[in-house]
Amino acid sequence: MLRGKILGFFLGMIALAVALGAYQFHGRRVAAAAAAAQAAQLPQGNLRQLMQSRVHQEYTFLSFTIWHDQPLTAEKMDSIAASSGRIMTIADDLAAYESAYKQQGWSQQDVQFFDDKRLQLTQVAEELKKAAQKHDSSGVTSFFMHLDNTCQGCHRHFRPDLSWT
Ligand code: HEC
Repeated sequence: MLRGKILGFFLGMIALAVALGAYQFHGRRVAAAAAAAQAAQLPQGNLRQLMQSRVHQEYTFLSFTIWHDQPLTAEKMDSIAASSGRIMTIADDLAAYESAYKQQGWSQQDVQFFDDKRLQLTQVAEELKKAAQKHDSSGVTSFFMHLDNTCQGCHRHFRPDLSWT
């Protein structure tokens, strides 16, 4: 009799644990679906945030290290190369905004311009990375200037109010 009760209790606990697990799993799926829906929308604010945080952070690091933190030691060259690599990744991520902005009123030319500048950013960041890997300080300086021009070239079209450099 008692064994039956204990067994019943355990079975009940197992059923409860399974139900809880299923509930949590469902909850996570709902949260993941909501996040995916939000990411697919990519409101304008997100590009701005990405620029303000990720892009600007790498830019500030590079600018400080290259202009104000001489000499460029091997370690600094390595971190410049790593930062350039991260900019290349971000430049890839920028492509995701193109369709969202098109829906929000960018013309075909705007989208094309954005895409060209985005690819230019990838290429210049790659050159900067290569120069840093070779510990070529004049190359690093000159490609950083190209990078800066690339940021500004894109902003002149989309955000002429931005002229921080
Ligand atoms: C392919 C085009 C493009 C390139 C290249 C680009 N940006 Fe941007 N950036 C934009 C656009 C478009 C916005 C405006 C986003 C908005 O207002 O919603 C922006 C906004 C910004 C902002 C936010 C300003 C604010 O409103 O507070 C910063 C900071 C920024 N960019 C930094 C950079 C830096 C640094 C680089 C170069 C390493 C760079 N961007 C390269 C397109 C670009």
